[in-house]
Amino acid sequence: MARGKKLYEGKAKVLYEGPEPGTLIQYFKDDATAFNAEKKDTIQGKGALNNILSEHIMLGLAGIGMPTHFIRRLNMREQLIHKVEIVPLEIIVRNVAAGSFSKMLGIEEGTPLPRPIVEFCYKEDKLGDPLVSEEHILALDWASQHDIDDMREMALRVNDYLSGMMYAVGIKLIDFKIEVGRQFHQDMQRLVLADEISPDSCRLWDIETNQKLDKDVFRRDLGSLTDAYSEVARRLGVLPKGG
Ligand code: C5P
Repeated sequence: MARGKKLYEGKAKVLYEGPEPGTLIQYFKDDATAFNAEKKDTIQGKGALNNILSEHIMLGLAGIGMPTHFIRRLNMREQLIHKVEIVPLEIIVRNVAAGSFSKMLGIEEGTPLPRPIVEFCYKEDKLGDPLVSEEHILALDWASQHDIDDMREMALRVNDYLSGMMYAVGIKLIDFKIEVGRQFHQDMQRLVLADEISPDSCRLWDIETNQKLDKDVFRRDLGSLTDAYSEVARRLGVLPKGG
């Protein structure tokens, strides 16, 4: 499918105009970045793995009635998506202490949390995506109370579904991040799941060994990132056996 004009290039993806009004093409790059792009590398195959894994997860979520921006995968690197206006928030759900949560609160990584915790961060690379409260979101008019409630509910539904999907293949969902967009239709708007859900945006640990199967492999130099992502894809059955 012919891509239109390049509209946006991020750290891991590029967005192009799509073939019809209201559509975009989302291209997955092989670039990996961490610590707000202080650490960078190109990892052969990462884009294709994230494309296929995100497709699998978005389709599963659509199957339980979650609105998403995903239309269909076009090829190994690209997917067709609905154009949305991204809400400038990253919504994180945590089941087990790790990463910035452990650092901020001094709680050892791997400590299970009594219930899932939903966090909102302001999506702004220059500031390192700081944690914000509902007060900030409302006062700065990034979202209404109704939208905040909707986003929290969406995040918890994704958590339920994705935890189950991963648990079934021997993987613990430690935490993850989602992004949400506003989709406009005539004078109606609704919030839909946007961006990607992949091992770039989740922490995934093997249930038996706690081996990390996510981007922490890159962040912390723990081995081959493509081996880790391929293992997730193989267990979920989205790679040919032995592939
Ligand atoms: O770094 P932190 O512990 O806050 O990350 C929580 C979760 O959100 C992790 O799964 C991480 O991969 C994801 N995340 C992300 N993009 C960001 C920040 C966090 O995908 N900009």
